[in-house]
Amino acid sequence: MVSPLVLILCLTLPLIFFFQKQRTLKNKAFPPSPKGLPIIGNLHQLGNSSLFFQLFELSKTYGPIFSLQLGLRRAIVISSPKLAKEALKNHDRVFAGRPSNLIGPQKLTYNGLGISFSPYNQYWRETRKTCVAHIFSSKRVSSFSSVRTFEVKNLIKKISSHASSKKVTNLNEALISLSSTIICRIAFGRRYEDEGVERSKFHDLLNECQAMLAGFFVSDFIPFLGWIDRLNGMHKRLDRIFKELDKFYQEVIDEHMDPNRDTSNGEDIIDVLLQLKKHQSLSFDLTIDHIKALFVDILVAGTDTTAATTVWAMTALIKNPRVMKKVQKEVRNFGGQKDFLEEEDIQKCSYLKAMIKETLRLYPPGPLLVPKETNEKCSINGYEIPSKTIVYVNVWAIHRDYEFWKDPYEFYPERFLDSDIDFLGQNFELIPFGAGRRICPGMHMALASLDLILANLLHSFDWELPEGMTKEDIDTQVLPGITLLKKNPLYLIAKIFNKG
Ligand code: HEM
Repeated sequence: MVSPLVLILCLTLPLIFFFQKQRTLKNKAFPPSPKGLPIIGNLHQLGNSSLFFQLFELSKTYGPIFSLQLGLRRAIVISSPKLAKEALKNHDRVFAGRPSNLIGPQKLTYNGLGISFSPYNQYWRETRKTCVAHIFSSKRVSSFSSVRTFEVKNLIKKISSHASSKKVTNLNEALISLSSTIICRIAFGRRYEDEGVERSKFHDLLNECQAMLAGFFVSDFIPFLGWIDRLNGMHKRLDRIFKELDKFYQEVIDEHMDPNRDTSNGEDIIDVLLQLKKHQSLSFDLTIDHIKALFVDILVAGTDTTAATTVWAMTALIKNPRVMKKVQKEVRNFGGQKDFLEEEDIQKCSYLKAMIKETLRLYPPGPLLVPKETNEKCSINGYEIPSKTIVYVNVWAIHRDYEFWKDPYEFYPERFLDSDIDFLGQNFELIPFGAGRRICPGMHMALASLDLILANLLHSFDWELPEGMTKEDIDTQVLPGITLLKKNPLYLIAKIFNKG
């Protein structure tokens, strides 16, 4: 039996601690903040849907840098290119951390052993350097060219059959399936049959994994109320998903360790990681858990982002017929009578590339990047930002900043034609892949797929709206979650273009 004194102490000590912390903060120059409630701070003001949009709205009142009290954790939100530059360039090292000990990411990445959710430390630096050299290098990206070509050709064949039978194509479904097939083949050499049970099982699992990585655990923000996560079943769900995923990774790894395995299709990423393990080429012992955690990174970071971009590009194009015609003219000009545009053909398509940039500007797949955490205290824009502050960089807002963009809400690829602005992390008004030490290492892998998919969809088909629909009927609502996915499927009619 717990004594009443202990109970009172348990309930009041955290409150005293919280209010003391609040008072200390108010004494220092900390960015402005919406008024919060005791204990929960501003948590009640943030719904689960489109956090980036809610933060964008708040920035209109509180400015390009404001703060939030998320339970016992402090957060700041950066919403302008100038401040993004200050944080991600001038204070790059300080802003290279990730929020520590978040329940979902911690569990699913084997205690932070991957890249994406690992804190900024020697382990992350070495793992990232190794992955950049062996997995994300341009040589490796080119080595997967045949996988991309095979899978995109397969999609074109599938859509041609829809076109011949005048069937509507669900582009969300087709493009999510394509991106995940490409990533699965690149990562572990497996190809799931189109509508098979295995495929949907794998997809459900991956979706659940994404949901848990972004999931709201009370203990992340108010540790002494962590029992709520047990009561509402969050821990049970997390444990179940972790066990299922772990079993799946183990199967794949065992398959790859089989000496009789057929390797005639070339090396995949698991082969590369197992070789690194065998040769012990890192300063630490690369274990099977490390490999599993890197596997999570690649599947989660690589699938939805690529699919989302292709769906948004097609959405923007169908709503902007002028741009659709212009980009089709260009790819058909370079493609000529070819049935399929190869990766080399596409390099000359400058308008297609500008259109992809414009899509990533208006619909950045990671609208808040991956949340960061300061490694030590620093000063930004005259404000004192303490160590261990969570940092959201609102790319959605930055890409719509009137100071940097003319008509920011217009889908206008021409803005990039005579411009040096690129998304390589040097122009802070365009950072769909982030910037600084944490910039997306998979950027070149992603662009290789985006170019090939979009060029061929536009080369092979003319696209029309289903009967009775106008372009105004196509909405741009998004699903809740870390990746900006179109909520309602994009249904279009493909007509085979006669290259004749
Ligand atoms: C259009 C496609 C993609 C977009 C827009 C994108 C965007 C991003 C963004 C915004 C971040 C966070 C950067 C930051 O915190 O500053 C990130 C991180 C990351 N991305 Fe991508 N990504 C894409 C595709 C890919 C692909 C295909 C892969 C791998 C196969 C990948 C692997 C990663 C990894 C491992 C990280 C974590 C980096 C770290 O924390 O050090 N991404 N990506």
